Amino acid sequence: DWTMAEFRKTKIEEIRAQVGNGKVICGLSGGVDSAVAAVLIHEAIGEQLTCVFVDHGLMRMNEAEQVVTLFRDHYNIPLVHVNAEEMFLSGLAGQTDPEKKRKFIGGAFIDLFEDEARKIGGADFLAQGTLYPDVIESVSFTGGPSVTIKSHHNVGGLPERMNMELVEPLRELFKDEVRELGRELGLPEIFVGRHPFPGPGLAIRIPGEVTKERCDILRKADAIYLEEIRNAGLYDAIWQAFAVLLPVKTVGVMGDGRTYDSVCGLRAVTSTDGMTADIYPFDAGFLSRVATRIINEVKGINRVVYDYTSKPPGTIEWE
Ligand code: XMP
Repeated sequence: DWTMAEFRKTKIEEIRAQVGNGKVICGLSGGVDSAVAAVLIHEAIGEQLTCVFVDHGLMRMNEAEQVVTLFRDHYNIPLVHVNAEEMFLSGLAGQTDPEKKRKFIGGAFIDLFEDEARKIGGADFLAQGTLYPDVIESVSFTGGPSVTIKSHHNVGGLPERMNMELVEPLRELFKDEVRELGRELGLPEIFVGRHPFPGPGLAIRIPGEVTKERCDILRKADAIYLEEIRNAGLYDAIWQAFAVLLPVKTVGVMGDGRTYDSVCGLRAVTSTDGMTADIYPFDAGFLSRVATRIINEVKGINRVVYDYTSKPPGTIEWE
C-alpha cells in the first residue's frame, strides 16, 4: 500500500543519501514538476539547495513573476532570478529548425546553471523535475524503432565537461502523481493544477524564427485564450491549452481596409500522461468567441484556426 506520504519520506532519505554534504542547484522552469522537485529537495537538504529561475523571455504572460513570488514569498526558498531574455533571443535569431532551437535552448540553460554554480563556489549536483514520460519520449517512440521525437531539454544527461551529477527525484512519476505529491507538500492548488509548460517555452510555439515581437504577440493571444477557458470553467478538464503563432500571413478585411497578418493556432488536448492525447471538443460558440477576441485585441493576428490533431499522429506541441 503505496502512498504519497511514504514516497515523500523515502525520496527525502534517498536525496540525503545521494547528496551528502554536497551543494545542489535546481533549475525552476515555472512548471509544476520543477517546483515540486525543488520543494521536495529543499525539505531534504535545506540550505544546501540553491534554486535558479532562468527567465529566457519565452514565458507566458506574467509567468515569471508568479514563480518568483511563489518561491520567495510563499516558501521563503532562496531563489536566483536570472534574466536572460537577450541571450536567448539573440541565440535564436535566424534559427528556424525545431531541433536546433531545442538544442540551443537546452545548451544555454546548462551554461547558465554552470555560471550560477560557479557563483556559489561550485555545485556538486543539478536537480531537475524530469518525469517518467520525459525519460521515455526522449529515448524512443513507443512500439517503434528507436527514434528521437524531440529532445526534451531537461533529459539526456549532462555534457562531459560538467562536473555535476543529476538529482531527479520525480523520474518514476507520472504527472498526476507529481500533482498529488505537490499537494502532499502543501503547494497551492492553483499552482499544482497548472497545465504543463515545456522548458523551451514559447520558442516551440512559434514555428520559424522567434523574435521578441512574435513572443509578445503570442503572449497576448495565449492570455486571452486561457482567460476564456478559465471563465468557461474548462481549465481543469483540459490537460493543456495554448496558442501557437504561425509563420504564415494571410489576407483579411477589417473595417474597410485590407489586412495581411499572421495566423494563430489554438491547441487544447485531454490526456493523462502527455504520451497520447485527444483534442478537446470545444463548442463552436466558445471557439468563435475566442477567435473574435484575439483578432480584435491582438495586433498582428487576423486569422485563428483550431488544431484537430490527436497524439499520435500529432505531438502536443507544434515543434
Ligand atoms: P509533445 O509535444 O512531445 O509533448 O507531445 C508532450 C508533453 O511534454 C511537454 N514538453 C516538454 N516539457 N521540456 C519539457 O519540460 C521539453 O523540452 C518539452 N517538450 C514538450 C509538452 O508541453 C507536453 O506536455
